[in-house]
Amino acid sequence: MSLMQDQAPVKTAIDAEEIKSAATLLKAGQLVAFPTETVYGLGCDATNLEALARLYRVKGRPGNHPVIVHLSCVEQLKDWADNVPPEAMALAKKFWPGPMTLILKKSAKVPSEVSGGQDTVGLRIPSHPLALALLKEFNSGIAAPSANRHGRISPTTAEHVKSELGDLVAKVLDGGSCSVGIESTIVDLSSEKPRILRPGMITLQEIEKTLQEAKEEKQSAAKAKPSKKAKSGSPADHASNVLPRAPGTLSSHYAPATGLKLFAHHNLPRAIATSESLMMKISVMAFSDPIASKSVITWKQLSEDPAQCARQLYAFMRELDTSGADYIVVEEPPELPEWMGILDRLRRAANG
Ligand code: TXA
Ligand code: MG
Repeated sequence: MSLMQDQAPVKTAIDAEEIKSAATLLKAGQLVAFPTETVYGLGCDATNLEALARLYRVKGRPGNHPVIVHLSCVEQLKDWADNVPPEAMALAKKFWPGPMTLILKKSAKVPSEVSGGQDTVGLRIPSHPLALALLKEFNSGIAAPSANRHGRISPTTAEHVKSELGDLVAKVLDGGSCSVGIESTIVDLSSEKPRILRPGMITLQEIEKTLQEAKEEKQSAAKAKPSKKAKSGSPADHASNVLPRAPGTLSSHYAPATGLKLFAHHNLPRAIATSESLMMKISVMAFSDPIASKSVITWKQLSEDPAQCARQLYAFMRELDTSGADYIVVEEPPELPEWMGILDRLRRAANG
């Protein structure tokens, strides 16, 4: 995977002693931050209530916000989820390990501290080699939200975690820069129709395609064995290609402390001219070439490749947040499937 020159590479070398000591800390109820391919997670034993309370405290997260449980293999799904539907297996087979979280009916093993009092649980098998090594060594579920303070920008390097959480965590495993760069796509399979609760770099279209293929496979298997006809109304019947995007309120999240404003490409020159006339200092994150202006103090050029842009996004936001600007101006990406995750994060950041 190619990385921009201004980004540290993904570190994949595994130090077995380091992983062992991280797993021992987790077993003892401590918090360990670790890299995933999306963003860094703040991990704790998903069955240890004291550790979960500490995790919520350190993150400053409201108690009714559920956290994702990270697993090392698909076989562990049945321990953490009940009534795993065939759609879940189809998506797991296609996208795990990887940047997708499945919301399923929780098993009795999942404490309500993890599920935020709901009857569902978010589960994910991450692909970062250090995350997988830690999960294998720990051999149980690791609850992990992104390793940032509630509402702030998710960390994509170990340095981001250290600067934000410092001594509040027992250990930070360093896996370099995250190769995906924004949080996982969340697919809710816990109710009638599959829904995307949070867009990410695995697109709605890819999810729909996999669900559709699984449905067709099931139908042709049923045709081949007419005696075992599939019941209508079975979960696979819901795998239609009309997945609605979860409505959800566009709450403030993933936000820098500095105000952030989004502008369409054609409005960018006017936005910059306006800040100049108001004698405001601005920092810009844009796909366009820099526009000369007295008011611009930093200009970060975003890649037109969505995968590359996702890797740049949070590091650039953090950098611009400390640039001394009155506000941050961002050029909006196109409303195309592969940009939906990035657009979602930018809109939430602009809402901050
Ligand atoms: O890529 C990711 O998903 C990262 C890495 C560390 O795995 N994790 C992450 O966790 O972004 P967090 O806690 O920052 O965001 C998880 C989101 C939250 O918006 C939470 O409300 C939602 O997932 N979530 C978790 N469990 C849920 C559930 N049972 N039902 C609905 N939403 C859930
Ligand atoms: Mg988060």
